[in-house]
Amino acid sequence: MIPCQRDRFALPPEVHYLNCAYMSPLSHAVVAAMEAAARLKATPWRYRPADFFTVSEHFRTRAAQLAGVAADCIAIVPAASYGLAVAAANVPLARGQAVVTLADQFPSNVYVWQELAARSGGVMRAVERPSQDCWSAAVLDAIGPDTGIVAVPHCHWADGRVVDLVAVGAKCRAVGAALVLDLTQSLGAMPIDLAAVDPDFAVAAGYKWLMGPYGTGMLYVAPRHHGGQPIEHNWINRAGSEDFAGLTRYREDFQPGARRFDMGEKANPPLLLGASAGLDFLLEFGVEAIAETLAGQTAAIAARAAALGFDAAPVGTRAPHFLSLGFPGEVPKGLTERLAAREVHVSLRGRSLRVTPHLYNNEADAEALITALAGA
Ligand SMILES: Cc1ncc(COP(=O)(O)O)c(C=O)c1O
Repeated sequence: MIPCQRDRFALPPEVHYLNCAYMSPLSHAVVAAMEAAARLKATPWRYRPADFFTVSEHFRTRAAQLAGVAADCIAIVPAASYGLAVAAANVPLARGQAVVTLADQFPSNVYVWQELAARSGGVMRAVERPSQDCWSAAVLDAIGPDTGIVAVPHCHWADGRVVDLVAVGAKCRAVGAALVLDLTQSLGAMPIDLAAVDPDFAVAAGYKWLMGPYGTGMLYVAPRHHGGQPIEHNWINRAGSEDFAGLTRYREDFQPGARRFDMGEKANPPLLLGASAGLDFLLEFGVEAIAETLAGQTAAIAARAAALGFDAAPVGTRAPHFLSLGFPGEVPKGLTERLAAREVHVSLRGRSLRVTPHLYNNEADAEALITALAGA
């Protein structure tokens, strides 16, 4: 178990922030990196052309390390929706084929597929979760010869229940479907073996479990798509862009690997160096240890909430970092506001309270949540 890291964050003792799935707080190190990086632009004569590349590669190598893939497979994106738009531009959907998603999936991983299905004559197939179980069996059942694309997360953003991505990846390969993942609610907090899953694309926004600022994320692109179509055409992604004097010798070839998919103006030091410091925090401990620690925290809260009548799925059925507490009856009106008034910060999704701690949480936070729930 990793000891509590609260002193590395600006969390006052009376604040009980259990909502990393909404957004993580920035650590002192991330804030310091962003401030120092913002100051670089106060002295642009010291920001050399080479820095456009070093700043980008600094982030890319850390993102790759966290995901356990080669740096060449990572593109820099501003949002999950951007990465998913890249994916939708590069995976085929034939007339009549289905896009498989989870029911009530996060909209950034739905709208893009609705658009593609409308344009291609395809159909959407949102899988329902039939029981208190995880999503895996229902997703596997929904994948068949008529499936063009499977676009799912590792755990559902509302109920935290998991999808067995290794099994889904194998089924996709067996039927010839593309696999696109939104790992925004799991990467960094839950181990994933991307080599075993073998998705076509996998995106993660950086401002939740990756501990970074808003506006920076990472996109894994499988090597088979490294010759694909970017969704924008900026100068820096083309080969030879290091030579600022020669930029108008227009070129058709790109920087290597997934770099052709990088967003425009990617080399933004405050964002990329801040995001890199967020990744450094995670890499210091490793995802396995983080997941184990968060599993311990969420299991302890679940056990105490059970005494108040809340139900919760066990780790395995749900993700280690993601606790969804089911209310025994009606959800009391204004509940999250009442909890927030006691400085207990969680989210309500449907009839479930989403409790998502991280390494900055402590025993007092769990205690405050349980006391506030009992009172409510
Ligand atoms: C599963 C999931 N994906 C993506 C996002 C964010 O999407 P975007 O980066 O497109 O704003 C969220 C935010 O809550 C989310 O829960």
